[in-house]
Amino acid sequence: MSAELWNSAVRILDQNWSGDHMVPSRHLYPHQWSWDTAFIAVGLAYVNPSRAWRDLRTLFEAQWPDGRVPHIVFDPATAEGAYFPGPAFWDVPAYAGRPARGSTALVQPPLHAVAAWEVYRRATAHGASCARESAERLAWLYPRLVRQQEYLLGRRDAGGDGLAAIVHPWESGLDNSPAWDRAMAAVPADMELMRRFHRRDLDVADAAHRPTDEDYARYVGLVLSYREHRYDDAGLCRWHDFVVECPAFNAILGAAEVALARIAAELGEDPQPHRDRARQITDAIVRLLWDPETATFRARDVRTGTLTPARTVAGLLPLILPGLPARYAEAIMAEVRSERFGLPARTGLPVPSYDRTAPDFDTLRYWRGPIWVNINWLLRRGMLQHGFRGEAEDLRRSILRLVRRSGHYEYFHPKNGEGIGAAAFSWTAALSLDLLPG
Ligand code: DGY
Repeated sequence: MSAELWNSAVRILDQNWSGDHMVPSRHLYPHQWSWDTAFIAVGLAYVNPSRAWRDLRTLFEAQWPDGRVPHIVFDPATAEGAYFPGPAFWDVPAYAGRPARGSTALVQPPLHAVAAWEVYRRATAHGASCARESAERLAWLYPRLVRQQEYLLGRRDAGGDGLAAIVHPWESGLDNSPAWDRAMAAVPADMELMRRFHRRDLDVADAAHRPTDEDYARYVGLVLSYREHRYDDAGLCRWHDFVVECPAFNAILGAAEVALARIAAELGEDPQPHRDRARQITDAIVRLLWDPETATFRARDVRTGTLTPARTVAGLLPLILPGLPARYAEAIMAEVRSERFGLPARTGLPVPSYDRTAPDFDTLRYWRGPIWVNINWLLRRGMLQHGFRGEAEDLRRSILRLVRRSGHYEYFHPKNGEGIGAAAFSWTAALSLDLLPG
């Protein structure tokens, strides 16, 4: 059974390899996505460490001079019409010797330092030549990973409070999560835009499984606002309608500093600044995003200073921070065990993306209810870090059971476990390799 799952995962990672990068899925996402690359590298490290390093390198070769790592690196061999919004829509100028229109201007959660450390650990166990290659790759990536952090903690600290703000729901990776509903209500939905543009995702996916046209009108409007300001972050809160601090994004930002401390020590650099920043980010998450009334972490609208009322899976991810004080880790576990998120002991299934008891819980629509493997992989990591070993093991088994039964889907129905979205999804395959017993 395990061999079958392993082989099917490896097959998908072979099919989705595009020469120098991995696509998340051939039809729905035909370019390279930033946080996908990190999750994929973790699994690729088991079967093809050279490709894992190559994928990370391709992504970081597209890093902007200001340090941002784009959320999509466009493949010049892929037609403009194969994805919306494509290269011409973003109209990103040439930078760092790369041709114009090579990427988007948004970012995604900076999980790459965590991934690079995982690939390094695994690859060094593969023998001396792999270890040599990995040490070189890690040394190449390290300063670039640091610049990514500096961008996020610098230009993106729109609130001036030590957290990174996202300027578009796509930056969270949790595109249409109810976590953004309150802040998105302030973003005009110009439906005329949707008559001008064609949603390519609906040619290849079921509309009931994707964000709505109204969501897309707002998404497109936010890109146009950012584009008009030439993707410059100065004064964001004055001119941009969506400036939000996400607990999951910032937890990953903090976890990246923990990984960078390990990488720095390995490379003979000073790990202390990274440890200090990990602590500062953890403190800021607790200070700014913790809601004592409901004992949960929530996204914060920087423009209004208010926390989102929605209880989403983003609020559970600060568990991945090793320095999170025990009482917050306990509170997250209480939420994870509750009927809202229900661990496998309750449902037999991994954790859904949104509160099961919310009136607008939606079993099909992307991040408004379905189960995602990457988030559960992160959650399990957090459980292990904070000593919840039994529950981490239950969660691991339930993820594998789900993928074995339904396939390497993009996401899964939170009641019956059916696969939804893209059928041969790279991060689901890659993370299955990591979760299978060694
Ligand atoms: C999409 O196209 O759905 C992506 O999530 C945007 O990054």
